[in-house]
Amino acid sequence: MQMMGAKTTVLIGALSCCISATIVLFPAHLFHPITSKHRTQSINATPSLPPRLHTFRSISNDDHHCHEYNTPLCDDFPPDFPPPDTLVVSIFCVDPNGCCNFTSVQAAVDAVPNFSEKRNVVWINKGIYFEKVTVPSSKPNITFQGQGFELTAIAWNDTAKSAQGTFNSASVSVFAAGFIAKNISFMNVAPIPRPGAVDAQAVAIRINGDQAAFWGCGFFGAQDTLHDDRGRHYFKECYIQGSIDFIFGDARSLYEDCRLVSIADPVPAGKRYITGSVSAHARESEDDNTGYSFVHCSIGGTGQIYLGRAWRPYSRVVFAYSSMSDVISPEGWNDWNDPSRDQYAFSIPLLFS
Ligand SMILES: *[C@@H]1O[C@H](CO)[C@@H](O)[C@H](O)[C@H]1NC(C)=O
Ligand SMILES: *[C@@H]1O[C@H](CO)[C@@H](O)[C@H](O)[C@H]1NC(C)=O
Ligand SMILES: *[C@@H]1O[C@H](CO)[C@@H](O)[C@H](O)[C@H]1NC(C)=O
Ligand SMILES: *[C@@H]1O[C@H](CO)[C@@H](O)[C@H](O)[C@H]1NC(C)=O
Ligand SMILES: *[C@@H]1O[C@H](CO)[C@@H](O)[C@H](O)[C@H]1NC(C)=O
Repeated sequence: MQMMGAKTTVLIGALSCCISATIVLFPAHLFHPITSKHRTQSINATPSLPPRLHTFRSISNDDHHCHEYNTPLCDDFPPDFPPPDTLVVSIFCVDPNGCCNFTSVQAAVDAVPNFSEKRNVVWINKGIYFEKVTVPSSKPNITFQGQGFELTAIAWNDTAKSAQGTFNSASVSVFAAGFIAKNISFMNVAPIPRPGAVDAQAVAIRINGDQAAFWGCGFFGAQDTLHDDRGRHYFKECYIQGSIDFIFGDARSLYEDCRLVSIADPVPAGKRYITGSVSAHARESEDDNTGYSFVHCSIGGTGQIYLGRAWRPYSRVVFAYSSMSDVISPEGWNDWNDPSRDQYAFSIPLLFS
């Protein structure tokens, strides 16, 4: 996919309730409009990634208490946690402070049996997990259960350049069927590409398995945030941030009640050019049943962006009962410089606000 010459930004910050206990994720732009001031600050505030997961216990830690909340380090689990294994569910607990069996998400995934018929819940305590995670196709039926998408995140910083290809740049890659994620964020925190940068695509998650579902999840990145690659996928009440082609792939997906937030470069008053695109669908043939449907979603943020670019000849994307701010450029769609893709394009933006 081509870089469109836009400078983009990933807005994340980290607050700590107390440095020794936990780091909570605070995507500032969730609560404030993005201004250029925020942008500068947030670029400076982008945390540098340690090579592996934070080992919080090695950070100076006097009494293992969180001063702000005054709760012991390991006391933030629900009562009676973990519930006992049953015939249909097993729990794999992840906590960055070592308060349960695993300190990294990948270690918990590795412990899930191959081809399990059970649902295997990877319960992930709050924190930012700096790691690259793969759910292999041999591990269907896994659930990632976070503690809120502002409080729990998996982040890495590969780019198309560092990973030798956009598809390999994903912080989290899911190749298994039946994957579910709830109340967790997926982030790619690679540095902000400069205008015209090549190989700057930086995927937060690649979803390649069939029958995946995401409830209350966050997806944070800039160019190519959400690789909605293959299979049937459902997204409910999710927050999706990006700039160029930030939802892309050849999946057959329904997005309901989602917030789509562009961080594409603002366009100066009086100028007319495009700085991004929400989607880039990749339907290859008329016979394919793939496509993206966005229903009861909202689109806002910065820049002048397309609803979609026709990445492949039969790209199919529908926005219905959705609201759009004026970040959406009036022409709406782009044919990827191939006019033959126009004749099959159809769009029904039912409601502008
Ligand atoms: C990811 O972040 C680490 C730590 O800041 C850095 O050493 C590494 O070069 C970064 N990787 C890329 C691809 O930028
Ligand atoms: C840790 O693993 C053991 C053995 O599988 C299990 O009995 C226990 O419930 C687990 N503890 C937590 C906190 O997940
Ligand atoms: C799953 O299978 C792979 C090889 O296919 C093997 O390396 C791995 O140990 C297996 N994992 C478990 C938990 O059995
Ligand atoms: C687990 O995965 C298999 C194969 O995808 C599926 O047939 C089965 O129904 C799944 N079980 C659960 C509990 O989701
Ligand atoms: C997600 O978190 C919210 C509170 O932040 C909670 O009300 C909701 O039940 C959670 N949903 C899931 C699916 O975990």
